[in-house]
Formats: sequence, structure tokens, C-alpha cells
Amino acid sequence: MKKRVVVLMGGRSAEREISLLTGEQVYHALIQREYEAVKIDFDERVIQKLMAVNPDVVFIALHGRFGEDGTVQGLLEALSLPYTGSGVMASALGINKAMSKRIFQAVGIDTPLYAVVLACDYNEHSDRIHEDVIASIDTPLVVKPACEGSTIGMSMVKEARELTAAFETAFSYDAVVVVERFIEGVELTVGVLGNEPIALPTLEIITKTEFYDYNTKYTKGLSEHIIPARLPEDQRLKAQKIAVQAHKSLGCRGFSRVDMIVDAWGQVYVLEVNTIPGMTALSLFPDAARAAGYDFPDLVAYIVELALEKN
Ligand SMILES: Nc1ncnc2c1ncn2[C@@H]1O[C@H](COP(=O)(O)OP(=O)(O)O)[C@@H](O)[C@H]1O
Ligand SMILES: [Mg+2]
Repeated sequence: MKKRVVVLMGGRSAEREISLLTGEQVYHALIQREYEAVKIDFDERVIQKLMAVNPDVVFIALHGRFGEDGTVQGLLEALSLPYTGSGVMASALGINKAMSKRIFQAVGIDTPLYAVVLACDYNEHSDRIHEDVIASIDTPLVVKPACEGSTIGMSMVKEARELTAAFETAFSYDAVVVVERFIEGVELTVGVLGNEPIALPTLEIITKTEFYDYNTKYTKGLSEHIIPARLPEDQRLKAQKIAVQAHKSLGCRGFSRVDMIVDAWGQVYVLEVNTIPGMTALSLFPDAARAAGYDFPDLVAYIVELALEKN
């Protein structure tokens, strides 16, 4: 009997289009590996659609809010349907850069020096907050909404006078904003895979733009992946070890991808953990998995089997 897998895709986050791409490719991979696969676009009728299919497992191919943030995981828990990847808590922590950075700090994982600013405080004391972040973090710094992905709402601030615009942009996406020291260095992302998690090879990202942003990520030719990263072996091993620690610190399950920057002194800083990394053929996680010997359909099948393992 073939296992029946629902690929949950689309949804209403800012990353809907990427989710549709991921979902389509995951669907084809599942068919190639002898699963019975059914695509479901996530909308208000999702419960009826899921009940009608009655799957053995749900592959969550959603990104951003409503999908990567624990809400859909909670819904599937309530319906007693097994699903791929992290559970409710790890998903909710992973999408929130303020909460995940607090955890990294608590367990001794280096993350860029930061401050969390709430809209309600900012509205009353913006001048004092500007002074504080300049005094404690200093420029250049990065201002980002706590809960967006794909660099949406993020600004780099080189001079104090740019702070107002940067906060305004970030607050238009989230009432919680993270201000972070800008780290100059090699940008890496490290995939973590398995229910007894291991790190995939380090992947170095080279961009021709200032940030590895939405446009750069999804336009061919604007970024390059180098596997393994061009770093001394001890630094690569350290980055892999820290990636697994970061994955475990949030309580992730199955797979995740940890974004980091290694500075000129070899210090590894964790930026964030992505609990549902992009899964198109061009995406980072499948590329790193390929270097570890998993072709794309094998990887998708493995992630499904991990979801069915009890742990
Ligand atoms: N503190 C930082 N120092 C240097 N570059 C940063 C910093 N924060 C973010 N960036 C750049 O912005 C990109 C996106 O930031 P990230 O924190 O991973 O958020 P997301 O991927 O969710 O938008 C990073 O891949 C990196 O290129
Ligand atoms: Mg990122």
C-alpha cells in the first residue's frame, strides 16, 4: 500500500509564490518515490480538504506566517495528523527572531549583539531608543521585523539619521523589531537533518547585492552557492556543530537550516533558524543535501519518513 501524503502549499503569507514552487517540486518528488501525493492549497476550507483525503502524513510546504510559525502545526496536531518538520513550539520560536536570539544567548550560542524594540515603547520614546541602540550596538546595524522572512522589512543602517526610516519600515510588518549589529564576514547556511540531527555540509552564499534578499534569492545568477564553504576546516566543523546546537536549542525536529555569518576572526554568529527551508531545486537546503548524497526525491522521501517516526 502506497503511503498517502498531502502537500500543503500556498497559503496567505508573503511567501505564497515560493511555497507554490516548493509544493509543486515536492509533489513531483513524492510521485517519483512511489508515494500517493495530493496537493492542497491552504485556505479556509483546509480542514474539509484534509478530512476528504485522510492522509498518512502531511508535508508542510508553506513558508512564513501561517505555515512555518506553529499555527498550521497546531491545527494538524489537533486533527491527529502527522506532519513534516518541527512542532508547534520550535516553529513559533524559529519564526520569531527576538525569541530565538534570547534562547541562543541563554544556551551560549553566539548571535550578533541585539536589542528588541516594541512598537508601544518606540511610539513614546523614539529619541531615547535611537540613542540607546547607537550607544549599545553602534552602526552599521540591521533593523528587522521579528517575524518576517526573505529580508522583508529589513534595513541596513550606516548612519544614525537613517534609524527613523528603518524602524518605520520594520514596524509596518511587526510590532516587535530586532536591531542587530551588522557582522562583516562570510555568509553561511547549514542544513540540519534527521531526528538524531546531523549537519549537512556548509554552504557559502556569495551575493552580488548588499543583502541576501528576496530578489537575490530567487533570481538566477545573483547569488552563488559554494559547498563546502571556503573556510578553514576547523571553522567549518565549528559552524556545523553550532548549527546542530541551534536546531536543538529551539526544539526543532526532522530538518532545519541555520543562517550564520563567520567573521574575520573565525567567530560564528547565528542569525536565525529556518524551520521550513525552501525546497525547490534551486534552494539552499536541497543543494547541501545533494552534496551529502541525497538527491532531491530521496531527501523529500526521507523527510516524510522522519515525520512518521515516533519520537
Ligand atoms: N546582523 C547581520 N549582519 C550582516 N548581515 C546580516 C545581518 N542580519 C541579516 N543580514 C543579511 O540579511 C539576510 C537575511 O537575514 P536573516 O536574519 O537571515 O533573515 P531572513 O532570512 O528571515 O530575512 C542574511 O542572509 C544576511 O545577508
Ligand atoms: Mg535568513
